[in-house]
Amino acid sequence: MGEGPKFGPFFSIARNLGSMDKIDQIRDDTLRQVQAAASLDALEQIRVAVLGRKGLITEQMKTLGTLDPEARKALGAVLNAARDAVAQGIEARKKELERAALDARLAAERLDVTLPVRPETQGRIHPISQTIDEVVQIFAQMGFGVAEGPDIEDDFHNFTALNFPAEHPARLMHDTFFLPTKPDGSRMLLRTHTSPVQVRTMMTQKPPIRIIVPGRTYRCDSDMTHTPMFHQLEGLAIDRSTHMGHLKGCLIEFVKTYFEIEEVPVRFRPSFFPFTEPSAEVDIGCSRAGGELRIGAGADWLEILGCGMVHPNVLKNCGIDPDQYQGFAWGMGIERIAMLKYGIPDLRTFFESDLRWLRHYGFVPLDVPTLAGGLAR
Ligand code: DAH
Repeated sequence: MGEGPKFGPFFSIARNLGSMDKIDQIRDDTLRQVQAAASLDALEQIRVAVLGRKGLITEQMKTLGTLDPEARKALGAVLNAARDAVAQGIEARKKELERAALDARLAAERLDVTLPVRPETQGRIHPISQTIDEVVQIFAQMGFGVAEGPDIEDDFHNFTALNFPAEHPARLMHDTFFLPTKPDGSRMLLRTHTSPVQVRTMMTQKPPIRIIVPGRTYRCDSDMTHTPMFHQLEGLAIDRSTHMGHLKGCLIEFVKTYFEIEEVPVRFRPSFFPFTEPSAEVDIGCSRAGGELRIGAGADWLEILGCGMVHPNVLKNCGIDPDQYQGFAWGMGIERIAMLKYGIPDLRTFFESDLRWLRHYGFVPLDVPTLAGGLAR
């Protein structure tokens, strides 16, 4: 146990007075360095040099064991106080440096949100998104809300509840993508239309119902006018006295507002869908004079959507009493109406992610379509 015991407590303390001065010195020097440290790294180096396993104060602590109890107590207290003072000093400086770093970062990343948009901004809104926004605006004004449903559906929602009889050719007409058969023999599918969202809405909401459903749909088909994934917009209105006149009024109003033409001839042609009775297809007037397609009065007609009065079987399948309620529905291809309005010739280009195409046909992000401000500018 060193020399301590030989000289007794008094000498031991006296001898260690030198150490105490030294410790004060270490503490003061260290605190000065801490104050001057310009970075968290520099601060950490000081901490290691003084409080680390081989640090100046730690080394002093290791000598305590060689002292007699009295001297150890006195020197130990001084050492502890010095260690605490240094630790506190480092902590305080660390906070200062962190705050300064944050201030510098905030200053560097400062954004003036009142600045005008940079003219070189390249981003564009895809015509599909733009068209959906426009259509939502139009039907929102008529009191329709937006509903959504899953892309992966079951047979019930996509076909059965919509009055497709089992083995009916219409199921094949849809060129369905099926998922692998499950152990119970059923198989999920990628929805072939947005109509299953009608079913989901009627099964969970009480009439009156007024919804539109924009969304992705899938059919195993690919050529100039078909892509395996495309978009539809479905509409559904259910109430006690809804009739075909309401259907016609809504859709004629839509066509005029969407194409931004005051007088567009609109024709309802009888058709067939399992889920509507009666069913119709809607054509709009156009001219193809000189090889250029123009929407509006002209010699030709162009089909743009399917519609009809919701079949009583569909209402029943969804838990709605067809003696109390009736309604209308429609469905249209979003790409198709986008192509017609914006003169986009080839459907496949929508999904080629060609930036030159997007710059040409895309929309400026801040030009949000509104009926008051204009749909497309
Ligand atoms: N689901 C039809 C299709 O994909 C479109 C359609 C037609 C939807 C008539 C409707 C409707 O709601 O009433 O071809």
